[in-house]
Amino acid sequence: MSYERDNIRRMTAYQWGEQPDSREVLKLNTNENPFPPSPAVAIALTAFGVDQLRRYPAPTANDLRQKLAELHEMEVDNIVITHGGDEGLRLALTTFVEPGRCFGMLEPSYSLYSVLAEIQGAKIFSAPLGDSWDIPRDFAHQLNEAAVNLACIVNPHAPSGTLLDADRISRLANDFQGVLLVDEAYVDFVDPALRYDLVRLINAFDNLLILRTFSKGYSLAGLRLGYLIGAAELIEPIINKTRDSYNVDQISQTLGEAAIGDRAYAEETWRQVRAARRLLREELIKMGFQVGISQTNFLLAEVPLDFSASAEEIYRALKAEDILVRFFATPLLEDKLRISVGTKAQNTRLCKALARIIGKLT
Ligand SMILES: Cc1ncc(COP(=O)(O)O)c(C=O)c1O
Repeated sequence: MSYERDNIRRMTAYQWGEQPDSREVLKLNTNENPFPPSPAVAIALTAFGVDQLRRYPAPTANDLRQKLAELHEMEVDNIVITHGGDEGLRLALTTFVEPGRCFGMLEPSYSLYSVLAEIQGAKIFSAPLGDSWDIPRDFAHQLNEAAVNLACIVNPHAPSGTLLDADRISRLANDFQGVLLVDEAYVDFVDPALRYDLVRLINAFDNLLILRTFSKGYSLAGLRLGYLIGAAELIEPIINKTRDSYNVDQISQTLGEAAIGDRAYAEETWRQVRAARRLLREELIKMGFQVGISQTNFLLAEVPLDFSASAEEIYRALKAEDILVRFFATPLLEDKLRISVGTKAQNTRLCKALARIIGKLT
């Protein structure tokens, strides 16, 4: 006899990327920033007095909220700080999707979405992406027909790295009758020349939520810090009702403020990742992989049919050489590898190993 709720017993658990203990392993599998956090974060961590841990943290992380509000030229009421972006997703589901009602998404995308929806006891409406990762023209109509309460899209898209422009998202938010959450986990790596900016739409829509994280852009995946930006009416129930009272610990709040205070450092890492991404893509294409343009810190490399090695075999051969990339045995992805962009030296190690493996296996 099981004590679990029926839907928890039936559901498939989220499969997180491998997190090896060894520092020798080249980790290009979970899209961490290859550069360390800002020295300002290191200073703030050293200066953090352990006596501060005796008390509960600031309940709504208001100092950090204030700094983020200034950064985005929004009001404090438009922001809620979360324990990683993942908690932001969970809170959106808890707050906006009644159990038994419908959650909307595109397939493939971040595999946590459907897991969180199942935990909530929500039905899932999932629309397949087209061959070039384009979303269905009538996506809003499909969501409305399925009576979706909350839909999540990831932009730039994971795992393809493609970017939808803000006008397209604006039309979607306009036509969709539920809450649209745009997961911008990788937005910091978007080429600034594209002038992509969704935050400016927040004041125009009462149903648009944007998710951001410190994990990627600020090299702080180990901290668990993220936030949602949205209309005050969407943020208020999360702040006051569905969030845990002290959902973000004091160390994270303090280090988050330090990271925002030295944004110039983070921006330089984004520039270097973009430069390394361009070079890595060129190298992979030279080797015969098909690799689309990515606006994130990873590339999706398709293994062509004339390779005698499959994506899974290449993934395993790389792993045997202590190099981790991500392989998904799911439709549209089973012939591809998702590779996080590393430093120049890391990418060179990867490419040398790949060249050897392809020479050996093909
Ligand atoms: C698409 C996407 N959204 C959200 C997240 C959540 O990031 P975190 O919980 O580390 O802030 C991730 C993490 O990999 C992601 O890939």
